[in-house]
Amino acid sequence: MQWHADRSLPLLAIARAQGAWLYAPDGRRYLDGISSWWTNLFGHSHPAIVQAVRDQLDTLDHVMLAGFTHEPVVALSERLSALTGGRLGHAFYASDGASATEIALKMSLHYWRNAGQADKNEFICFAGSYHGETVGALAVTDVALFRDAYAPMVRGAHVLPSPAAGGAAALSALDGHLALHHGRIAALIVEPRVQCAGGMAMHEAAWLRDARRLCDRYAVHLIADEIAVGCGRTGTFFACEQSLDADGGGWPDFICLSKGITGGTLPLSLVLSAPAVFDAFLDDTMARGFLHSHSYTGNPLACRAALATLELFDKLDVLQRNRVWAQHFTDALAPLATHPAARNFRQAGMIWALDIDAGHDDFSRRFYREALARELLLRPIGNTLYFMPPYVLDDAQTALLARGALQALDAALA
Ligand SMILES: Cc1ncc(COP(=O)(O)O)c(C=O)c1O
Repeated sequence: MQWHADRSLPLLAIARAQGAWLYAPDGRRYLDGISSWWTNLFGHSHPAIVQAVRDQLDTLDHVMLAGFTHEPVVALSERLSALTGGRLGHAFYASDGASATEIALKMSLHYWRNAGQADKNEFICFAGSYHGETVGALAVTDVALFRDAYAPMVRGAHVLPSPAAGGAAALSALDGHLALHHGRIAALIVEPRVQCAGGMAMHEAAWLRDARRLCDRYAVHLIADEIAVGCGRTGTFFACEQSLDADGGGWPDFICLSKGITGGTLPLSLVLSAPAVFDAFLDDTMARGFLHSHSYTGNPLACRAALATLELFDKLDVLQRNRVWAQHFTDALAPLATHPAARNFRQAGMIWALDIDAGHDDFSRRFYREALARELLLRPIGNTLYFMPPYVLDDAQTALLARGALQALDAALA
C-alpha cells in the first residue's frame, strides 16, 4: 500500500463485489483482472467460501492458539502437509504475507542457533525480489522505492543476480557466493518461477532444482516464498513442485503461503516447514522454542475459509481447468503480445506479463485510468502490464479483459 497524495487518481470506493466484478456506489463496475492484488482466486464472495465462514462464525469465532488448538487449524495443517506428500508437515500461522516471510527468516536463523551455529544468521535474496514490507521482510526485498526511506532501520542481505536475468550466470554467482560465505548464511529466499512485485520476472522451473542442490551442498536453508505464486497461480498448487526431482525429492525447507489461501476472503498466512526444522525447536527450554506470536494466529474463520478454498481446488478440478482456460486466454492476448509497443510477452500458468515501450514514465497511471474507463481493474507495475485474473472468468469476461486491455494500451500510448 502506498500512502501519498495523488490528486489525479482519487480513491475509488467499492460498495460490493461478486464473482469477478467489483461494484462502485455509483453503479459502475470493474472486472478484477488482478484478483485484488492476487488474492481472490475464485472471484469475490464465492458462495462455498462465504457459507463455510458463516458456519464457522456460528461455532467458534476465535481462540488464541497458544496452549489451545481447534479443528479448522488442525484440518488445514494436515491438508497442506498432504499437499507436500508430508515433506513439509508442520505449519506455523500468522495473518499477512510479510509476517510469513519474517517467520521463515527467524525460524531459519533460530534453527542454526539451536544447532550450535549462531554465526549462520544472514540471508541471500535476489535482485528485484519482493518479500514484504515489514522491517525484517524489507531486508530481503530489493525494490529501492520500498526500501530507501527506511534503510536506516533495515539490516542488509546478500543480494545476488536474479535467475530471471540469466539462469546460468545466477547459478554460478550463487555457487561462488555460497562457497565463500556459507558459514554465515542461514537461508536463501526465493520467489519460485516468478518475481511478481519486482515486475513479473520469470525463470525456468529447473533453475530452482539446481539452487536446491547448492543449498544442500553448503548447508543453507531454502525458503520458497509462494505468497504470490502458490495456490495454483503458476500451474501447480505450489510453484516449487515444478522443480522437484524425478523421485519427488528436492522440496524447500520452508514454504510461505498467504494471499490466495483463503480465496481472498480473510487475512491468513502460514509457513510450512520440514520435520528437521520442527525437531530443532522441540525442547523444554523456552528460549530454544520458536518465539513469534500474533494475536490472530490461526484464526478459525480464516482457516475455515482456507479449507473451503482447498475444497474448491478438488471439486472444480481447478488446475486442469486453468490449463485449458490459460491457453484460451493466451490466444485472446495475441494482438496485445504482438502490439508494436509490446516486448517480452511471457506467461507462467495463470500469470501473463509484457513490457511496454511507452516513451514516457507515466505509463502505469495512464493505463490504469484507461482500463478503469473500460470496466477493467488492471494496474501495471512500472511499464510492465500484467494479468493475474481470478480462476472463474467466463467467455464474455475473458474477451472483455483481452479486448479492453488492448484498447486501454492504445489510449494510454496516445
Ligand atoms: C512474494 C511476496 N511475498 C510477500 C508479500 C507480502 O505479502 P503481504 O502484502 O500480505 O504482506 C508479497 C505481496 O505482494 C509477495 O508478492
